[in-house]
Amino acid sequence: METEHWKARKVVIVGAGAVGSTYAYTLALRGLADEIVLIDYNRDLAKGQALDMMHGQAFFPSIQIRDGDQSDYADAALIVITAGAKQQPGESRLQLVQKNAAIINGCMDQILAQNSPAVVLIVSNPVDILTYVAHKRSGWPRGRVLGSGTVLDSARFRHQLATRCGVDVHNVHAHIMGEHGDSEFAAWSITNMAGMPIEQFCKSCAKCDNSELGRKAIVHAVRHSAYHIIDYKGATWFAVALAMTQITAAILRNQSSVLTVSAVLDGEYGEQGVALGVPSIVSVNGVDQVLEVALPPDESKAFHNSAATLREIIASLGL
Ligand code: LAC
Repeated sequence: METEHWKARKVVIVGAGAVGSTYAYTLALRGLADEIVLIDYNRDLAKGQALDMMHGQAFFPSIQIRDGDQSDYADAALIVITAGAKQQPGESRLQLVQKNAAIINGCMDQILAQNSPAVVLIVSNPVDILTYVAHKRSGWPRGRVLGSGTVLDSARFRHQLATRCGVDVHNVHAHIMGEHGDSEFAAWSITNMAGMPIEQFCKSCAKCDNSELGRKAIVHAVRHSAYHIIDYKGATWFAVALAMTQITAAILRNQSSVLTVSAVLDGEYGEQGVALGVPSIVSVNGVDQVLEVALPPDESKAFHNSAATLREIIASLGL
């Protein structure tokens, strides 16, 4: 994708609520963007968030943060969509689909109208469905629209393993794959600690319960993380903003990072017509390549179950 049309590292964020504003703040602290624009139907909220952050400009690397409108899509490098209804206590992400699909289509129509050169990152839930909705609406080659997918879930999985095994989380490589939601699964077969397959590590560790039951408890804790936080404080925003920032670094720095973003499949894993969390190489173009890891039968079954769950909802949208 040509990049001469976009300003150096201009990021436009749709939705100035808790997730969008925390992400903007994190981007600014990390010095990852030169210009951050907040768009919200509540223009005062966008203005207030931007102003509140810009008053801290002296403490950031040099950056401009402001409120804006759809004209800002025209020279954006990255557009991140966080807008939409959020999960209520006990509500699943999939129950948000109808209302949020309409919002995503509206955003994509405005982005197309501005002939934007940007990569589009979807964060609104249900993120896998909405990533596919945005991809279809765009008519772009796949990869240029991606979703936050299970990047956050993989981080939660790594946190669980690091805590239970007493190992620095940075030495834990582990992926949650599939839906960012109830049908996600842990790819235990490609989990490694300190460079060792987890089975080998566990033989030398004996700290945690690497039994089937112990593994089920870890996956349950990961799958239900958001529900618990929503029960405590109404929504999640810190860890998802950090996951978004990791994805943003891969795009704006052209890092070719391997992340389990929500990627549109076209035959990989024997699936197509769906987007879900798979290890992917992420760079300035968005998803450069979906990595097909060899999954054992139980994990392959879980993958296809997750894909089928999502495809059913996509079909209900007429896509
Ligand atoms: C969560 C939201 C981002 O999992 O879906 O925290």
